[in-house]
Amino acid sequence: MTDFKKDFPIFENHPNLVYLDNTATTQKPAYVIDGVAEYLRTGYANIHRGSYELSEISEKLYEDSKKIVTKHIGAESWREIIYTSNSTYALNLLAQSIWRTGLLKAWDTVLVSVVEHHANIVPWLILKEDYGINVEFVWVTENFDLDYNDFRDKLTSKVKIVALTHVSNTTGQIFDISNVASLLSVRYGKQKPLLIIDGSQSVPHFSIDVRKLWCDAMFFTGHKIFADSGIWVLWAREELLQTLKPIFSWGGAIGEVSKESFTHSTMLPDKFEPGTPNLNWAVSLLKAFEYLGSIWWYEVLEAREKELTAYTLEKFKNISALKLIWSTSIENRLWVFTFVVEGIHSFDISDYLAEHDICIRAGQHCAEPLMRELWYTHTCRMSLHLYNTKEDIDSFFEILKQAITELS
Ligand SMILES: Cc1ncc(COP(=O)(O)O)c(C=O)c1O
Repeated sequence: MTDFKKDFPIFENHPNLVYLDNTATTQKPAYVIDGVAEYLRTGYANIHRGSYELSEISEKLYEDSKKIVTKHIGAESWREIIYTSNSTYALNLLAQSIWRTGLLKAWDTVLVSVVEHHANIVPWLILKEDYGINVEFVWVTENFDLDYNDFRDKLTSKVKIVALTHVSNTTGQIFDISNVASLLSVRYGKQKPLLIIDGSQSVPHFSIDVRKLWCDAMFFTGHKIFADSGIWVLWAREELLQTLKPIFSWGGAIGEVSKESFTHSTMLPDKFEPGTPNLNWAVSLLKAFEYLGSIWWYEVLEAREKELTAYTLEKFKNISALKLIWSTSIENRLWVFTFVVEGIHSFDISDYLAEHDICIRAGQHCAEPLMRELWYTHTCRMSLHLYNTKEDIDSFFEILKQAITELS
C-alpha cells in the first residue's frame, strides 16, 4: 500500500497519531499548506477591482480554483460555482434565496431523509418556523438505504423540493440519486420539484457528475477534501442561479445602487458572492484538487477503500459487545463505521482511545433525528481516508478491545 502519510506533515509532527475522524474533517497535505503559504507570500491581492499584476494573479487563481471544481463535479461552467464559508451556510443561503424568489410557498413541502446532517434539516426548519412550509422525512430501510417505497408514497403535489444527502455521515450508506431523479421525472414530468444534494461526504470520496445525477443544486465543503476549513462550494444549474434572488447583497454582487433602491448583479457567480471572497481558501481548494489529480485519486482511493472497508468489517465482526449502525453489505457504502459498545458510554470509549493517540468521534454526529429513531443518545464513529493503513486499523481494534475490558 502506498504510504500517503508522508504527504501530510501532521503525521511527521505526531508520529504515533492514528487519525480516524475523517468524516469530520481531513488532514492537509504539504502541497496544500505550502501552496497557500506561497500564494500569500507572492501573489496575494484583492480580485475584481485591480488592474495591477498581483490582482490579476489572484483573479486567475480564484478562477482556476472554480474551474478545477467545475471539472471535478461535471458542472457546465465555472460560473455555476459559488464559494462561501461552510456547507451549513451554503444551504441556508440557497434555502432562503429559494423562498425569497417564491419558488417555495407556505404549505409547500420539502422532503428530506431521516439520516440527514442537521445542515440539510435546520435551514428547512427555519423556513417552517418563519413561513409555515412543511418538512417531511423519508424513512430508511433496515439496511439504512433510502426507502424508495416510502419516498414514492410521499411524492404529493405539495412537494416542491427534495433535499437529500448523497452519503450519510453516520451510516456511510450511498443513496442512488439518479434513481431518485428518475422517480421524480416519472411522478412529475417537467414540473419536477428541485432536487438538492448534500455532497459533503460523497465529493471527497468518489467521482461525481452532477449532470448524470440530474440534480439542480449540490453543496459540499472543502475541509473534508484536504483543503483549508472555511471554503464551501454551492453548485446550481445556471438557469436556477439566474432566477434566484439572493438574500445577501453588497460589494460586487450588485448592479446599481441609489438612495432608494438597488439591483442585483446579473453576473454569475458574483451575484451570490458579495464582498471580498475567501481568496486563500479558494487557493487551498485548488491545491487540494491538484494534489488529488497528481496521485490518480479515484483509482487509488477506490481500491484502497474497498480493501480497508473489508478489512475493518471483518475485524468488527469479532467484537460481540458492539451494536453497529451501518449496512453489513460492502457495496454502496463508504468507510464510515458508527457503533455503540453495550454498557459503556461512547465518550468514555473515545476518551480512552484518545489517551492512546487514536482520534475518533463520539456523539450524535449532527444527525439527531436518526439517533432519536434508533434510540441512541451517543455513538462512536471511526472513519477512514486516503492516508489510513491496516496498521491504523489494527491499533484501533487493539485499544478498543482493551477499553471494553477495562471500562466494562
Ligand atoms: C453530510 C454532511 N453535510 C453537511 C456537513 C456540514 O459541513 P460543515 O461543518 O462544513 O458545515 C457535514 C459535516 O460533517 C456532513 O457530514
